Amino acid sequence: MITENSLDQLLSVVAIEQVVGDYVTLRKSGSRYTGLCPFHDEKTPSFSVTPSMGIYKCFGCNKGGNAIQFVREIENVTFVEAARQLAERYGVELIETGNRLDDDQYQELQRRKEGLQVVLDYAQGFFQQQLNDTEEGAIGLSYFKERGYSKETRSYWGLGYSPSAWDALLKDAEAKGYKKEKLQEVGLVKQNDKGNWYDLYRGRVIFPLKTPSGKIVGFAGRKMDKAENSPKYVNSPETELYKKSDFLYGVFEAKQAIGKEDNTYLVEGYTDVITLWQSGIRNAVASSGTALTPGQIKLIRKFSANITVLYDGDAAGIKASLRGIDLLLAESLNVKVVALPQGEDPDSFCQKLGGEAFGEYIKEEAQNFIFFKAQLLLDQAAGDPIKKSEAIKDVLQSVSLISDSIKRSVLTRQLAAICQVEEAVLTQELGLLLRKSLRDDKNSDALVKQAGSLLGQGAWVLPEDAFSERHQEAALFRLFLLYGNQELKSGQSVLDYTLDSILDGEEAKDQLGDLLKTELFQRIWTDMLSFRVRNKDTELANRWPEPSFYIHHEEAQVSAWAADVLSRQYVLSPTFEEHYIYIKEESDSVQIVQSIEAIVANWKRIKVEKDIQEALFMLETAEGEEQEHLMSYLLHLNGIKLNISKSMGTALSGTGFGNKPAQA
Ligand code: CTP
Ligand code: MN
Repeated sequence: MITENSLDQLLSVVAIEQVVGDYVTLRKSGSRYTGLCPFHDEKTPSFSVTPSMGIYKCFGCNKGGNAIQFVREIENVTFVEAARQLAERYGVELIETGNRLDDDQYQELQRRKEGLQVVLDYAQGFFQQQLNDTEEGAIGLSYFKERGYSKETRSYWGLGYSPSAWDALLKDAEAKGYKKEKLQEVGLVKQNDKGNWYDLYRGRVIFPLKTPSGKIVGFAGRKMDKAENSPKYVNSPETELYKKSDFLYGVFEAKQAIGKEDNTYLVEGYTDVITLWQSGIRNAVASSGTALTPGQIKLIRKFSANITVLYDGDAAGIKASLRGIDLLLAESLNVKVVALPQGEDPDSFCQKLGGEAFGEYIKEEAQNFIFFKAQLLLDQAAGDPIKKSEAIKDVLQSVSLISDSIKRSVLTRQLAAICQVEEAVLTQELGLLLRKSLRDDKNSDALVKQAGSLLGQGAWVLPEDAFSERHQEAALFRLFLLYGNQELKSGQSVLDYTLDSILDGEEAKDQLGDLLKTELFQRIWTDMLSFRVRNKDTELANRWPEPSFYIHHEEAQVSAWAADVLSRQYVLSPTFEEHYIYIKEESDSVQIVQSIEAIVANWKRIKVEKDIQEALFMLETAEGEEQEHLMSYLLHLNGIKLNISKSMGTALSGTGFGNKPAQA
């Protein structure tokens, strides 16, 4: 565990606009910055960064939190990894305590990774040197020259050569003190049944595989002789450094150009990427001949939302990969495709046309994926009405994955023309698909919606169940976050006053935990209490946590909630204004007290409602004296209920709770 102190220290030096700015183009607007949200697809900015509070918040998809949460989310790493990354960047030393085992395990993993890295770096040097400075390497050199690779290209891509002897690398490595076991782990050498060790890459040209930040994680060795009866490529196995499903070839070399061109060319082979690079097209990466994975897509998504898939010219391969492209759409990428002429791949066709003509060709031929798919399927269905309708449904399925409704409707209109079907028919069909996917998608959509109705509840309440317990808890904790320590006229803090009012001053404060229904607020409450316990002998004794406590919370949900509530104090989202009831921000302590009163009244109303239900239930089986007692008890409860309703009427009209405010 990283200590709270050092996290605070880290977050105090981190400039959130700088951290976010690496991924999002931010525009200054007053004391905030706005931009297009990197977590969902949008055309108008609903993403906001507030440097003074160190938080970001998207009003479109509801993501929000502090700088650590941002790195965690966008880099897809753990909280601790994100904190370490930022600490390194800002030169802050993180103090870590707690679970010794975890700590040791982490250190151990780091050591192991470093151990592997050392061997990989060594091997890279070895292969490169074999290519350039040895007699046998001339074979590799002439292979690359035949493929047209210049000296500059060979050195930029770190290309190498592995000698054909059984143990060239092994011998050299051992002489230099590297352990065979490490070489084995990264798939460079192996032990046979007789216990003899040998090199795995023999007589092959070598393509080093790098992470997006340029670290060597493995090698691909291509055979040079077509006739030779062995696999075309020998590839590194997965290790702690190399996860195939997250790997794309050429990202390190292409990422800058991808950003500049705001487009990625996706090809299949290592050689395609390198040929394109040498021809001046520097934004290409390769999927290494496999179907795209979500991890790979996330990786490219970081640098640009536009992708152009270059297909080798065989229809079978294209059809097989259509599904993979749906993944790209679902990740909000704009997908174009180019089908190369029959029998050509990007490498061969680029060599044939020359870089400039090839570059123009792919720009001209690039077609929106949806239209491409429609054309392909319609051509195959030619003349068969049933196949045609299946084809259209299939294409609409892809359209339904596009999250931007404007894009969807423009595409649908154009599709109608291509398919020669009424636009209204397509729109209706699409509507059905969208509704279905909304139902199926239990996780993402439901979560977003839940978050939307849960977070920052005091400020924005869904009309249907504005008075539910869940919303009451949200309203309560919003007050705690915003005004917790603020002193009221009575000298009591807002938080203490509210607690006393809810619990009638009788019940112990820690009973609130049992009353809470929402996991998020249970969690927050527990942490608030342990904050009190921790600080009972310090100058913070009897105080409640400040907003930074919640913003910097390790739990992403808590931090997101805090960012949401705090951001809403400053930013009004037009979409939210349309759909949610608005509670105006309390501008003075009179209004704060009114808010407390409203919350407390409703809290009690819910409680008395429960007591009434319980009494009614008991009444069903009660007899004689017990029955009489219950009757008068019910009368008493009803009286309380009536009083609460009355007081709620006034409290509510005071705060605008449950009403849309008269906006100027
Ligand atoms: N591939 C592989 N193992 C194989 C064949 C292919 O790993 N036995 C992967 C490689 O990543 C390769 C990609 O699939 O780059 C595309 O395959 P292919 O087009 O056959 O290879 P190229 O690298 O394009 O080689 P070349 O242009 O020399 O045919
Ligand atoms: Mn190829």
